[in-house]
Amino acid sequence: MAQHILLTGGGGYIGGTILDQILSLTNSPIKPKNLTVTLRSEQQIKALSDMSVHAIALDLNDEEAVKEAVLSNNVDIIVHIASALEPAIASHLIKALGERRKVSNGEAYFIHSSVTAAFSKENGWPFGEVKDTDTLYDMEKQLPAGHPVRDADILVTDVARAEGVISLIVVVPVVYGMGSGEFRRTSSSIPSFLRTSIADQVVHRFDKDAHPAMTHVSDMAALYILLLEKILNKAPLPMGEKGYYFAMAHKVSWWDVMQKLADALYRRGLVNEAKVEIWPSDEMAAQHLGWPRQFVRAMGTSSGDIIPVNAFKIGWQPKWTAERFLGSMDVEVQAVLEQGDKFQSTLYDSILNA
Ligand SMILES: NC(=O)c1ccc[n+]([C@@H]2O[C@H](COP(=O)([O-])OP(=O)(O)OC[C@H]3O[C@@H](n4cnc5c(N)ncnc54)[C@H](OP(=O)(O)O)[C@@H]3O)[C@@H](O)[C@H]2O)c1
Repeated sequence: MAQHILLTGGGGYIGGTILDQILSLTNSPIKPKNLTVTLRSEQQIKALSDMSVHAIALDLNDEEAVKEAVLSNNVDIIVHIASALEPAIASHLIKALGERRKVSNGEAYFIHSSVTAAFSKENGWPFGEVKDTDTLYDMEKQLPAGHPVRDADILVTDVARAEGVISLIVVVPVVYGMGSGEFRRTSSSIPSFLRTSIADQVVHRFDKDAHPAMTHVSDMAALYILLLEKILNKAPLPMGEKGYYFAMAHKVSWWDVMQKLADALYRRGLVNEAKVEIWPSDEMAAQHLGWPRQFVRAMGTSSGDIIPVNAFKIGWQPKWTAERFLGSMDVEVQAVLEQGDKFQSTLYDSILNA
C-alpha cells in the first residue's frame, strides 16, 4: 500500500506550512515517520532534523540523485512544491516514482503544483470560463507550446501516464497570509506590493482592476493534506487527465486590496498618504515589483473565470473569505516587516527558469 511521502520545497512558504500542519495532525493516516522532506540548505536540514523530521539534501536537477532518493526512502507519493514549473524536475521525480512502482508493485502518486493565472485571457487562455471538471488536459494541449504552466501541466500528465504513475494537479492561486513553516513565512505577490510601497512611500495599482483567485496559506496547505489523506485511505479521486484541482477559496478585487494596504501602511506611518496611485507604466511596475516584464500585465490585471469544483467535491473547506482577507491587511504588513529580506520567494525564479 502507498505510504511513504516525499515533500519537495518543505523550507518554503507553502511547503513549510504543509509540513507544519502534518506535524500537528492527530488521527490521520499521514504519519510524520513516513515523510521525507527535501531541502537545499544544510542549515535548514539541521534545524528540521533537530525537530525529528527526516530532511535530506537533494539536487532536484540531478536525475540519478532523485531516483536514488526515491528508491532508498521507498517513496510512493510525491508532493511537489519546489520550483514546480520546471519540467525537467517534474520529469525526474515522476520517472523515479515509475522505477519505485516496479519494485513495490504498488501504486505511486505525483501531486504537482500549477498556477491559476494561466487560465486567464491575459495569459493566453482562449476558452473563457472554465471548471476544473472540464476537459482541461485536452484544452491545454490545444494551446501552443511555450507557456511554462501549460508545458509543465501537459508534461506531468503525459510522463505520469507513460510511467504508470497517478498524477494530480493542484492549481495554485495567489496565496496570502503568514505561513507557519520554520523558514520562509511570506508569499510572493502581496509582499512584493508591500515592499515596493514602503520603498516608494506610496501604494500603486494597475490602471485596470482584476479579481484574481486567492487562498490563505493555511487553507492551501489543508488541501494538499486532504489529498494525501484521500490517497492513503484509497478514496476515489479525480486523477490523471481529469485530476485538476483549482485551489481557489475566493476572489478579491486588486483595487480593494491596494486601498486596504494603503490604509494599513499609513496607520503605521510607512507611506505618506492612505491614497493609491496608478502605475505610470508597466515597465516601472515590473522594475519596482521585481516581476518578470513579460508577465507583469498578466500578473497585475488578470482575473480568470475559473470555477473550482473538484476540491470542494472531495471535502475541502477553506476557512478564509474575501472579507476576512481584506480585514487582515495589518497581518500582511506585520509578516513582511518580521521576515525582512531574509528570504526571497523562488516563484519568479521558477517562471524565468522555465
Ligand atoms: N505563493 C504563491 O502565491 C503561489 C502562487 C502560484 C503558484 N505557486 C507555486 O507554489 C509553489 C510553492 O510556492 P511558494 O510560495 O511556497 O514558494 P517558495 O516560498 O519560494 O518555496 C519554494 C521552495 O522550493 C525550493 N526550491 C525552489 N527551487 C528549487 C529547485 N530548483 N530545487 C530545489 N528546491 C527548490 C525552495 O528552496 P530554498 O528555500 O532553498 O530557496 C523553497 O523551499 C511554487 O512551485 C509556485 O510556483 C505559488
